[in-house]
Amino acid sequence: MKNLKEKTPDISSFQCPSSPSSYFLSFEGIEGSGKSTQLKNLKSYLEGLEYRVIILREPGGTAFGEKLRGAILASEEALHPIAEAYLFASSRAQLLNQVILKELSIKKTVVICDRYIDSSIAYQGHARGLGTETILKIHELPPLNSLPHQTYYLDIDLQTSFERQKARGNEKDYFESESKKFYQKLIQGFKEASRIFPDRIKIINGHLEEERVSADIQKYVNRLLGISH
Ligand code: TYD
Repeated sequence: MKNLKEKTPDISSFQCPSSPSSYFLSFEGIEGSGKSTQLKNLKSYLEGLEYRVIILREPGGTAFGEKLRGAILASEEALHPIAEAYLFASSRAQLLNQVILKELSIKKTVVICDRYIDSSIAYQGHARGLGTETILKIHELPPLNSLPHQTYYLDIDLQTSFERQKARGNEKDYFESESKKFYQKLIQGFKEASRIFPDRIKIINGHLEEERVSADIQKYVNRLLGISH
């Protein structure tokens, strides 16, 4: 018998924006996974293929979203998980409406988002314990039901994340000061998201050297764009 925990939630209300020559991509991963570097590398690669590339970050990307970002990341009091989930969703809805969907209506455009719904599944759904179903439910209504065409999850283990964070030595924000247990749950959350969206989410080994990770991502993006090498 199938374990109840393994039940696949209903994702029928979700869709990828229909944009014949334009694409919506996202990057996911825990701190230190190499998202920023790989985002830049993918941007250059796609520009080389003559795509117009728009990079956005979540939360943020609009004036309102940036205010929410500041409010969340600088918060000195613990937010209720539901408050967190709706704040991220508000920022996302504005970003979709004001930027993402409009940009995708322009030919040969690629919108790349640094984090998107899978971060909500991992952080608020899993690590904060709201559950994946709650996060999916919050995203049922348009424009929140829009999904990227492809998502790259840069998979690194806990130890690598902590080593890379330590090497950076930056001051820690709201989420970065969380415990190892929290990070462990995040990893499980991203794995859970990949199980629910196996076609969209590509698991990339983030322990490999930079060029190798970029090549793995390019392999998937080529497939999406119909490029054969
Ligand atoms: P950021 O500094 O952009 O983190 P990173 O460089 O690791 O991407 O801060 C965004 C933080 O917000 C990050 O810790 C993850 C968290 N987050 C959520 O908890 N839920 C969400 O839906 C999103 C988009 C981000």
